[in-house]
Amino acid sequence: MSKNHLKTVFFGLRNPTMFYEGLQTALDGIGGAMGAYAGDNLFTYGRNLGFLDDPALMQAFGKHASTEIEQALLWRVSVILWGVRHGLRLQGDFVECACYKGTTARIVCDAVDFGAHPDRHYYLYDLFEHDASQPHHAMPEHGKHLFAQVKQRFSDLPNVTVTQGRVPEVLREAAPGKIAFMHLDLNNADAEVGALETLFDRMVPGAVLILDDYGWLGYRAQKDAEDPWFAQRGYRVLELPTGQGLLIK
Ligand SMILES: C[S@@+](CC[C@H](N)C(=O)[O-])C[C@H]1O[C@@H](n2cnc3c(N)ncnc32)[C@H](O)[C@@H]1O
Repeated sequence: MSKNHLKTVFFGLRNPTMFYEGLQTALDGIGGAMGAYAGDNLFTYGRNLGFLDDPALMQAFGKHASTEIEQALLWRVSVILWGVRHGLRLQGDFVECACYKGTTARIVCDAVDFGAHPDRHYYLYDLFEHDASQPHHAMPEHGKHLFAQVKQRFSDLPNVTVTQGRVPEVLREAAPGKIAFMHLDLNNADAEVGALETLFDRMVPGAVLILDDYGWLGYRAQKDAEDPWFAQRGYRVLELPTGQGLLIK
């Protein structure tokens, strides 16, 4: 049976009223339940949306995606989960730069029961605080308590390490030697290239890399910095409809 996932979260709108009226008209035009996904600047229909039939994902997502924005990002999270599941078939550990509130990582850890893989480790990094000197934009939950809150969020998982600091410098403190999956979501071209300089060689063959901002026009500087970096090494990134970039090492 086809299902829908419809959220009214779209970024960068000049006239939200006009946009959402148009979206409603489009939904009326396709009529009823037809595998429609709306949100996170995506609108499509007539799709299987197979992630909606993934109980492990949907249970974890329902528990941890609490805000409207988080709920609109389901397709992106399903891509991360795919990469992590694939990574569990390889050797190495798991990396997210950066994790912010830890929502995506927490969903994925629950969906794969990461605690049942004590030989594998998940490394999460973030600044957790923001000041005006930083090139990326602030986020609502940034502040002096966020690091402690995120550590608490993973306190039941001894194989998850949350580290506060600036990527790439902080990677000297704690980082895996072998990586089975990596998720870069730094909203910052220099920091992402810095992370790649340190970590890409540690990704094992077949490991999945997801570049969260790669396809987003607002973060075009990341694509412009990363394309030549990968081209020098003989790789091309695949731009996904979610706005993520996908690369298999
Ligand atoms: C979009 S949020 C990450 C969301 C998270 N990946 C998720 O899926 O839930 C981007 C984060 O990057 C962090 N950040 C930006 N530049 C950074 C840097 N150089 N080092 C560490 N964290 C950084 C910010 O503090 C912010 O929390």
